[in-house]
Amino acid sequence: MIKKVLLIGVSGQVGRALYNRIGFEYEVYGTYWKKAIPFGRPLNIAEKGEVERSFAEIKPEIVILCGSLTNVELCEEDKTLAELINIVGTRNVVEEAKRHNSKLIFFSTDYIFDGKDGPYSEDALPNPINYYGKTKLLGEEIVKTLPSYLIIRTTGVFSFEENGQNFAMQVIRKGILGEEIQVPSDQIANPILASNLADCVAELIEKEGVYNISGKQVLSRYDFALSIADSFLFDKGLIIPVLTSSLDQKAKRPLNGGLITDKASLELKTKILSVEEGLARMRKRADEEIRDVIHTKIRDYYSLFHRKRFEPGKTKIHFGGRVYGEEELIAGCDSVLDFWLTSGKRTNSFEERFSEYLGVKYTSLVNSGSSANLLAIASLNLPKGSEVITPATTFPTTINPIIQHGLIPVLVDVELERYNPSPLQIEEAISEKTRAIFIPHTLGNPCKMDEIVEIAKRYNLFLIEDACDSLGSQYDGRLVGTFGDLATFSFYPAHHITMGEGGAVVTNNKDLATALYSLRDWGRACVCQPCILTKDPGSICQKRFSVDTEGLPDDYDKRYIYTHIGYNLKATDIQAAIGLVQLERLPQFIKIRKRNFSLLYEGLKDLSDIFILPRQENKADPSWFSFPLTVREGIQRKNIVAFLEKANIETRMLFASNIERQPAYKGIEYRKVSELKNSSLIMKNTFFIGLYPGITEEMIEYILSTIRDWTKKQLYSRNTRFTEKICDKRGQGFKDLMISLSLDPSTP
Ligand SMILES: Cc1ncc(COP(=O)(O)O)c(C=O)c1O
Repeated sequence: MIKKVLLIGVSGQVGRALYNRIGFEYEVYGTYWKKAIPFGRPLNIAEKGEVERSFAEIKPEIVILCGSLTNVELCEEDKTLAELINIVGTRNVVEEAKRHNSKLIFFSTDYIFDGKDGPYSEDALPNPINYYGKTKLLGEEIVKTLPSYLIIRTTGVFSFEENGQNFAMQVIRKGILGEEIQVPSDQIANPILASNLADCVAELIEKEGVYNISGKQVLSRYDFALSIADSFLFDKGLIIPVLTSSLDQKAKRPLNGGLITDKASLELKTKILSVEEGLARMRKRADEEIRDVIHTKIRDYYSLFHRKRFEPGKTKIHFGGRVYGEEELIAGCDSVLDFWLTSGKRTNSFEERFSEYLGVKYTSLVNSGSSANLLAIASLNLPKGSEVITPATTFPTTINPIIQHGLIPVLVDVELERYNPSPLQIEEAISEKTRAIFIPHTLGNPCKMDEIVEIAKRYNLFLIEDACDSLGSQYDGRLVGTFGDLATFSFYPAHHITMGEGGAVVTNNKDLATALYSLRDWGRACVCQPCILTKDPGSICQKRFSVDTEGLPDDYDKRYIYTHIGYNLKATDIQAAIGLVQLERLPQFIKIRKRNFSLLYEGLKDLSDIFILPRQENKADPSWFSFPLTVREGIQRKNIVAFLEKANIETRMLFASNIERQPAYKGIEYRKVSELKNSSLIMKNTFFIGLYPGITEEMIEYILSTIRDWTKKQLYSRNTRFTEKICDKRGQGFKDLMISLSLDPSTP
């Protein structure tokens, strides 16, 4: 059975360390006196009734009494208070422990000795020289009347405490401010880290009698302060040695104090730490605790300033955007606190996790989807003049790297409804010079991958998927981005996950991966993944100076040997930190994108006289990027776009639409196999609206009702070409449409 422990004084440094240490092994009830803490309950041991009630309620098998008045000066100044807490309080606890048959663990001090010839063993003769020491000695004597007790004597306990007054914290606080601190050079003891003390006590919990537990080194406070300055990188010159007699203190101090810990050391597995080891642990804990405080503030900040209210018509419904929680802010902030500003352990982790998610061997994290596309094309190292088949309806930086590498884009048209090229169109475009197919899954809608893969294989062509808009989309049960030789992704805020700017290229091909890593990192020969130097900047890489490269000195550093004419397209650890959290959210994001697509589709499907609605391949399961709408001939896209924008519903064109008509591409060398009719139609009639996970069902309702409002307006305005056309040519269709919109077809 798990024993119940009443831990009195859980808000102090020893109580807190014990709570953390034994909290899993025992059923611990922590109490505090004045300093309220969330996991404790109030108890003033000086109040007999309160102590009785606590014991009656908890019925503890073990009682640990950490709470006492330890401020030596205060004990001297306010003896009544010292007596009340340290003597009356102890007596109250001891009496209840007796009544409930509880074992008592009591904390005492080396201040029960006079400091003439320390350090002291357990059986040395006490002789306190100040009131604090007297109260603690009396406390020990009261405790010793119990049948079962353990007295732990300790000294100079230190730990990182946000508002704590322990000696190490006093030195650190002054150090942070760059202020001098006077420290006695004639007070000697062996200080111990609170968590080290707690580990020892946890091990001795079943023992009886008196045990000394304190640090490994006996040293002066001055030397201890110098070690603190050294450990926390303060100027040691701020520590001023003084004699105790010059400090004008009310309470006398035992100067040669400290405790001999041989008895405990013989019985303990826990190692008693040296001052340096204790301070190193304290520093690590300080890092964690300060981060915890910052995280709490970030959580508050997030809930106060990052949540948004939706007011239909007033709040803009974006076509896409970042969806995030406090975790992304915390992860980004943690990375800033590390201040590792380039790629590092977090970019490594992101690459690993992203590969795992997709089930691919290699991921190269880069600074954008556009960089991913650039890198993908560069890694193929195709001869100049080679042709790359790519759709005319595209994003500019999908086609740009083809042009930038002296390759010839061969533009194929796309199908309406799907906005992707058909396998047939791709095959028709192949010539002797064709070396690669570079296809986006437009707006998240997967291309017909089984047939396209088959074509690429048959003609021995590289296949690159631009999956920037389609993370999580599947074709025939397989994630897009896993079909081709290479695939690219974007982590821009509008995309399925974000890290601000960011992108990735993935592959299963080791040679391509080597080229990707090298080209991304200045073209250098160093391509180990993960690089041990990024993992641990302090480590030594054995491979750096043992490279045999023709024409170079044999001691040349591999980090400065270049095997490719490269770029610098790396992402930073701060981006990856955010991306790692986003990756966790991806399944939920995909779910919401799919839900939003269905809601929009269901709400608009009876308007197919007005819009061409999106469609997917039979085997496709898209994680849509957005919801494309193409207005039918006779309808002015600009009318609905203006109407929606005015209603604060953001719209976008389908990227470049027909790229050959964009100004920058007028003079480029390219080939096409058809007139790109659909791409031109898309340029004239298509736009898209958002369905990203930031869009709620309430927003979708608003979007749908706004589109319906516009539709009604169109139908009533008999002067528009649209209405005339529908009335003239589609008599019955118009009537159906009016009825589906709950309108009376006879009302003008
Ligand atoms: C299909 C496609 N490829 C590439 C990109 C470029 O990605 P990034 O904005 O991260 O450079 C985009 C951007 O939206 C895109 O939609």
